[in-house]
Amino acid sequence: MSSEQISWLIKGVMDGSVADYQLSAWLMAVVLKGMNERETADLTMALVASGKHLDMSSIGTFVGDKHSTGGVGDKTTLVVAPLVAAAGVPIGKMSGRGLGFSGGTIDKLESIPGMLCTLSVEQFMEGVRKVGLVVAAQTPDLAPADGILYKMRDVTATVDSLPLIASSIMSKKIAAGANGVVLDVKVGSGAFMKTPEQARTLAVAMRDIGSSVGLQVRAVISDMEQPLGWAVGNSLEVREAVQTLRGRGPADLLEVALTIGANLLQMAGKASNVNEGREKLREVLQSGAGLRKLREFVANQGGDPAFIDDPDGLEPAPVQRELFAWTEGWVERIDAEAIGLASVEIGAGRKVKTDSIDHRVGFVLHSKIGDRVAEGAKLATIYAASDESASNIEPAIRGAFVMSPREVQPPLVVVEVIS
Ligand code: URA
Repeated sequence: MSSEQISWLIKGVMDGSVADYQLSAWLMAVVLKGMNERETADLTMALVASGKHLDMSSIGTFVGDKHSTGGVGDKTTLVVAPLVAAAGVPIGKMSGRGLGFSGGTIDKLESIPGMLCTLSVEQFMEGVRKVGLVVAAQTPDLAPADGILYKMRDVTATVDSLPLIASSIMSKKIAAGANGVVLDVKVGSGAFMKTPEQARTLAVAMRDIGSSVGLQVRAVISDMEQPLGWAVGNSLEVREAVQTLRGRGPADLLEVALTIGANLLQMAGKASNVNEGREKLREVLQSGAGLRKLREFVANQGGDPAFIDDPDGLEPAPVQRELFAWTEGWVERIDAEAIGLASVEIGAGRKVKTDSIDHRVGFVLHSKIGDRVAEGAKLATIYAASDESASNIEPAIRGAFVMSPREVQPPLVVVEVIS
């Protein structure tokens, strides 16, 4: 497609002259045929041009941002953003809702009573200036055309496409006006990129789009063979983020957060190298400054921060069903895509655009790949709206676990960093 054709299409999406069924046919054509580099860059800039392009220079310092390509149990933003902001690097971030089998930060944040993620440009800038941390959804102001494409892709099996993912992510990053971005490119069963080569190609494509508009980009390629952390499901993941900021979270989640955060600190000139960045973030974690920043951020966006001190501040699911190991051995595999699809099925994600989600439901894993478990040990807990829903989903969760009689090594959490 020529630049003009791409620009015409996105304008038509915005003014409604391109109908939903035409757009979904075009999205499927892109999934099947791909786009070349020039088309991907043109699509990105057409998405940016559908709204405003923020200018953060009035804030005066480096503003950072991060974005994940999508995974299962991926609550990294809720950990890394408060830590980095508390270490003195402001974060202004646009996030998405659940997409396909992957969860979305905005859905997670909206499980906090009162939390508002639809912000005006002024509220966005003010949050970065005053609190040093803002996370916002798409609005008519910021890359709104991506919001329309994103919703459509979520329900038409058109997520899994390198040019659509690259343009969706980079349009939001460019529109929000940060100086430097760390992309968390997920690889594995619960990611849209299934192999390290695909993940690297996506990372390089996004880095090059960033460079072409003067945006510093680094990419962390991280494992998504199994869900990240223990919790999958919106309010369950918010709870786990709080636990992590209290120093009691899962090791893989903390590792991804520290890697992304340390790179942001170095890009901002707050650390001379990544190791120093990690040390600074550990200090922020241990002093409780990260948790205090989360509280300040939630309150600034209208949320009730009571849940931070009171675990029941987020409404729990009425039914909790435990699943136990049927044999002893090592956990060899926890199919992240199967768990992600099960989370949509149980109500934590959407099947059609108008679905509302149940923030309370999801799963908590009690074992991860490489753990040795005894027969009868707890493997996972299902959080469901009803007994019937728990029973319907139980085979899928049980089937996601594969046990081995031989010792299994846990996967590498961070596969590679591309700068
Ligand atoms: N995150 C986005 O914002 N867009 C995608 O397409 C995938 C992940």
